[in-house]
Amino acid sequence: MEQKESMSRRDALKTMGVIVATAALSTTGLSAFAAPEKKDKSKKRLLFYFTATGNSLFVARELAGETGQLLSIPQIIKDERLDFEADEIGFIFPDYAASAPMMVREFVSKAHFKAQYIFSVITFGNFAANVAEWWNDFCKEKGLQQNYINTLLMVDNYLPVFDMNEQIKIDKKIPENLAAIAGDVNMHKQFIAHFDQMDDRMQGFLKRLQDNHFPMEAERLLRLNTETCIVCGTCAAVCPHGNFRMTDTHAEFSGSCEYCLACVHACPQKALTLERERNPQARFRNENISLRDIKEANHQK
Ligand SMILES: Cc1cc2nc3c(=O)[nH]c(=O)nc-3n(C[C@H](O)[C@H](O)[C@H](O)COP(=O)(O)O)c2cc1C
Repeated sequence: MEQKESMSRRDALKTMGVIVATAALSTTGLSAFAAPEKKDKSKKRLLFYFTATGNSLFVARELAGETGQLLSIPQIIKDERLDFEADEIGFIFPDYAASAPMMVREFVSKAHFKAQYIFSVITFGNFAANVAEWWNDFCKEKGLQQNYINTLLMVDNYLPVFDMNEQIKIDKKIPENLAAIAGDVNMHKQFIAHFDQMDDRMQGFLKRLQDNHFPMEAERLLRLNTETCIVCGTCAAVCPHGNFRMTDTHAEFSGSCEYCLACVHACPQKALTLERERNPQARFRNENISLRDIKEANHQK
């Protein structure tokens, strides 16, 4: 029992026998895999997203097409009125420990949504487990009925376990899988992804992960090399919690942290690190998303 509680994600992945096949460099972009049904441009589609390294923003953009409206959860959550109405409403965010970032949970708990079709796409890097069913239950509890929840395998940005240089070489079939999801959504398919490898041990393990997830204090999680920090302010601009301040000599951070790793991945000096990392020299950002995009998505006033 004790052992299970302290099981790391790496151990869990091993236990669950998850095999990642390495293959050619992945290509992204939907153009080569046109969605079976096109988005109906007359329908108002709102897409709420959370992103640290751009995977979820890329997916949200692809699903928005020319007419959908993108709304950053770390920014819109600060609005006084959180009532949204559209024909279609979507939520796009990364899987954190088989569940959702705390800010995404908070947003759905506070806001009200009205739409004919409500869907979610959860990006993940290696093992999604029952995240779709967990999210469905979570939303139901908050009075939000989802019509469609699917997961999309992308680069895993979790630095304690994965080497980004290895991750980006794996062909995760992103364009094909994203095109299929876009087609489902355009056709208003009713679907909640199902995890069929659940046994008691797995259920206990996942529940503990989902219940005990972040946030934690930034001071405990992050390390800064003050010698190499050039006070460029990138960390401050990409942090969805606004946890950073610049002094004359280096960045300072404190506050509730999602552990999203946006700051660590974006630091141009690699001055921000974690206590334990697979490869402190390797960092990631989705190849279709610029640093400026991440700053625009996450900066706090
Ligand atoms: C704190 C944290 C926890 C994560 N947990 C999982 C997980 O349980 N399963 C998984 O497959 N990927 C996990 N990931 C990987 C991300 O879900 C994945 O890389 C995602 O596409 C990142 O999206 P973004 O680029 O929009 O931030 C985790 C990443 C972080 C930072």
